[in-house]
Amino acid sequence: MKFNSNNSKLNYDEPIELNNGVYWIGFVDNKHSLQCNPYIIIEGDEAVLIDGGSRPDFSKIMMKILQIGLEPSIITRLIYHHYDPDLCGSISNFEEIIGNEDLKIISHSENNIFIKHYSVSSPLLSITNMNYEFIFKTGRKLKFITTPYSHSPGSFITFDEKSGILFSSDLFGSYDMKQALFLQMDEDCSVCNDYTKCGHGSSYCALNGIFYFQRKIMTSEKALKIALDKIKKLNAKVVAPQHGSIINNEKSIKIVIEKLQELKGIGIDGYIQSDGNE
Ligand SMILES: [Fe+2]
Ligand SMILES: [Fe+2]
Repeated sequence: MKFNSNNSKLNYDEPIELNNGVYWIGFVDNKHSLQCNPYIIIEGDEAVLIDGGSRPDFSKIMMKILQIGLEPSIITRLIYHHYDPDLCGSISNFEEIIGNEDLKIISHSENNIFIKHYSVSSPLLSITNMNYEFIFKTGRKLKFITTPYSHSPGSFITFDEKSGILFSSDLFGSYDMKQALFLQMDEDCSVCNDYTKCGHGSSYCALNGIFYFQRKIMTSEKALKIALDKIKKLNAKVVAPQHGSIINNEKSIKIVIEKLQELKGIGIDGYIQSDGNE
């Protein structure tokens, strides 16, 4: 993965703070086009890890947590937005190193029936029994919003009210070898429909990778529309997906939502539209 010039001042070998104690703790993965983005929220003497990552990635993610200067035992919750191995694979590694008896895993009951197969020893909580929220001791609130079939039956996303960051999991995710940590767009992008090249002289348009991934991973146009309608109402300041680039301004978020609302050929709809030609 190559980061473009506007992101070049960032040191990707270190955890990167987005705002209000929220850190990107991913790493540059040159071997794979599916870049994974775990995040951690630190609030007072508690921390919550979001979509912690795969088993092979565990040592790199753990190193980032230690670089923040965080004592692993202050992590009290692990949030998993669905049950895929790219986010859940390292659950048992985290449980072991955190070693906190109060550690609990938060997901949706539809996911928990699968998550328990990752050798989980901590209690599995369902957002359906938590009033769809988690509140830190300080009062900081994380809201959980269901996004059924985008892409799993129990998929959901997390909105951190304090930072305005929406952790969108696979929604807004991208499949791309050439990404920047922060997505860059401007006004012209909202009216541009040629995604094969960039109107600003670059040969690269980041929307291509987003469209490709959303068409492959989401189940249908209807499911994506339901998720986007909910997301629009949140007025998030930052969208932090589990793959690809973080969208860190409201104008760009609006543009990407509008583009995704128009996107056709998603999941089973794409299969039907192609008359079954895979
Ligand atoms: Fe997934
Ligand atoms: Fe994913």
